[in-house]
Amino acid sequence: MKIAVLPGDGIGTEIVAQALRVLNALELPLEMETALVGGAAYEAHGHPLPDATLALAKAADAILFGAVGDWKYDTLERALRPEQAILGLRKHLGLFANLRPALCYAELTHASSLKPELVAGLDILIIRELTGDIYFGQPRGRRVAVDGHFPGAEEAFDTMRYSRPEIERIAHVAFQAARKRQGRVTSVDKANVLETFQFWKDVVTEVHREYPDVQLDHMYVDNAAMQLVKAPKRFDVLVTGNMFGDILSDEAAMLTGSIGMLPSASLDKNNKGLYEPSHGSAPDIAGQDRANPLATILSVAMMLRYTLQQPEAADRVEAAVRAVLAQGFRTADIWSEGTSLVGTKAMGDAVVAALTAATKTTPITKS
Ligand code: IPM
Ligand code: MG
Repeated sequence: MKIAVLPGDGIGTEIVAQALRVLNALELPLEMETALVGGAAYEAHGHPLPDATLALAKAADAILFGAVGDWKYDTLERALRPEQAILGLRKHLGLFANLRPALCYAELTHASSLKPELVAGLDILIIRELTGDIYFGQPRGRRVAVDGHFPGAEEAFDTMRYSRPEIERIAHVAFQAARKRQGRVTSVDKANVLETFQFWKDVVTEVHREYPDVQLDHMYVDNAAMQLVKAPKRFDVLVTGNMFGDILSDEAAMLTGSIGMLPSASLDKNNKGLYEPSHGSAPDIAGQDRANPLATILSVAMMLRYTLQQPEAADRVEAAVRAVLAQGFRTADIWSEGTSLVGTKAMGDAVVAALTAATKTTPITKS
């Protein structure tokens, strides 16, 4: 198996370095190759997603991605901005299914901005469609309006659109994921206003006929945003379009205490995947050994589970993360009174140590 390692910008390089230490500690037969992406690639090659990086990502079985972006690139023309690298990878590799689990660890219940009783035991899986919707819909651009409220004025426009197969395949991913969980799917739409999302709702309802064992309900996105902070534990699997999923997954992240804890997987139809933390490049803390590497380490666990077919190794990584939290190690984003503040590297050390300790402990069996 070959892994393309794309650390990117900002804290990306620091967190990916720790995730790689954890992956290496598992001693699996993996080949790894690193390439530049995002602002770092723009500086070196004049493009955020150079051909060589895209070719490496295409050839690999899985991609470990850090983060891209920096405010200093905000004035570049859109095609050259770092964000285009991740959008380009999603599009060119057909990574349509974005899995963003929001899990509240018992030790971090108090790190959430919500009351502990609302988030204790929270376990939601957000499934975001990732290659369609208003993110990629054509046409888009700027022009002089010929109609609307101000004919003759300058205007900008994007196109929200979904085709039946795009909705069908993400609905299947959601129903199948629910079967391995609590068996409940909430499809989030805006069918009361948007044609695209009435169609979304109709198609999800049709696909549901193949999954009579799974419970389906529908919710408007504004209500879903409210329910996520009012009673988040009511959700099991939440499936939605690209833009609503972008917004709701950041909201759900905060329920868990810190976006620094949230991994993600972006899968194609064959379970080839790009794995990245749900957070961004955080240029304000880059290079200071302050970033939380756990979201990236947990993304490695998702890679082991979904693409590398190594569920036991995935369990081991997740158990090691639970162990370091139980031992009281905290990066700044999840620190609270009475716990030990550690930096990025020390957190990586702790996870590697927990992994190795777990390997050395032979289970005591009764004869
Ligand atoms: C995300 C990010 C991206 C998105 C940006 C960086 C293009 O916010 O992965 O959620 O909007 O999808
Ligand atoms: Mg986002």
